[in-house]
Amino acid sequence: MKNILILPGDGIGPEIVAEAVKVLELANDKFALDVQLSHDELGGAAYDKYGVPLADETLDRARAADAILLGAVGGPKWDTIDPALRPERGLLKIRSELGLFGNLRPALLYPQLAESSTLKPEVVSGLDILIVRELTGGIYFGQPRERLVKDGERMAYDTLPYSESEVRRIAKVGFDMAMVRNRKLCSVDKANVLASSQLWREVVEEVARDYPEVELSHMYVDNAAMQLVRAPKQFDVIVTDNMFGDILSDQASMLTGSIGMLPSASLDANNKGMYEPCHGSAPDIAGQGIANPLATILSVSMLLRYSFNEVKAADAIEQAVSQVLDQGLRTGDIMAAGCRKVSTAEMGAAVVAALKNL
Ligand code: NAD
Ligand code: IPM
Ligand code: MN
Repeated sequence: MKNILILPGDGIGPEIVAEAVKVLELANDKFALDVQLSHDELGGAAYDKYGVPLADETLDRARAADAILLGAVGGPKWDTIDPALRPERGLLKIRSELGLFGNLRPALLYPQLAESSTLKPEVVSGLDILIVRELTGGIYFGQPRERLVKDGERMAYDTLPYSESEVRRIAKVGFDMAMVRNRKLCSVDKANVLASSQLWREVVEEVARDYPEVELSHMYVDNAAMQLVRAPKQFDVIVTDNMFGDILSDQASMLTGSIGMLPSASLDANNKGMYEPCHGSAPDIAGQGIANPLATILSVSMLLRYSFNEVKAADAIEQAVSQVLDQGLRTGDIMAAGCRKVSTAEMGAAVVAALKNL
């Protein structure tokens, strides 16, 4: 029996997770996965219930679980509370406490969505890149960080530290992923300016010696941002730090049609993981039943693949998503001429129906 902890979160989180759970439950029956689901809160919902964005008992449950499925956290309701209690701090804490340093964000264009991207179809067609984002270090967690008043004015600073062991372990994830893909790895940094990036580049070069079959390149992050929209198919695997990876993955999501299509896996050294869409809680559309649940459904597929090695079930979910796109069903974010606009629940139900018939 494997235990999956479900954390719906805030905003559209509960809406999209509800659909992903239906898919997971069907996969459980169909493929005899032997999984059991339990539920708890993270983020603003946890703040409302427990007074903190990640309660100790929730963290204990997360540690005990075999995998975690998360919606998204945050929203205007909690934007003005004590910064230490913000929903996002709960997310950062669970990532850090569980040691989920390896964040995989695949940007894969389903061919049916070539017209949904804001980029020309010829620029994105066939796109299949993987962003490997370091998730538990860098400027998100660096100390010291402080707000203060100096010379009569407010100021604030953050710190961007990386140790060589932190860089080495994420670089290895990048190389390992490149080895099972097209053997091309681009390490993205800002080594022309930042000391942390100079170390990053040095260590990535060292790790490269163990992967002679992988073609390694380095790119400054500003150029990488430009290349991602100029000629995104030049990339296979990108490995980068916490903040650059955050920004570049949102950017890459638009190459696939919508941020509503991008799943993610956040893994520790033993492939224990938390799985969540790359997007946020989308307060602007929350409660309307129109959010795209596919990123979360595809996160379930990643969960089954990476944490449980249930390759057949994972493949089947991806196939079901593809079939639903073939049927012309689209949520608003990926809507195109000649397609039928559906709600979050209709999209979820269509994936369930397709999976049933596979
Ligand atoms: P966002 O990703 O929530 O939304 C950006 C835009 O994309 C919005 O217009 C939204 O409607 C749209 N969008 C996002 N997901 C969608 C989906 N599934 N279907 C259709 N459209 C979708 O980013 P934001 O507005 O900058 O942030 C909102 C809140 O979410 C903030 O509190 C932020 O901190 C939080 N956030 C959380 C996570 C997470 O939990 N992993 C990630 C990013 C942002
Ligand atoms: C993400 C989000 C988070 C991040 C925020 C909500 C802390 O943007 O998962 O991409 O920056 O990592
Ligand atoms: Mn982000």
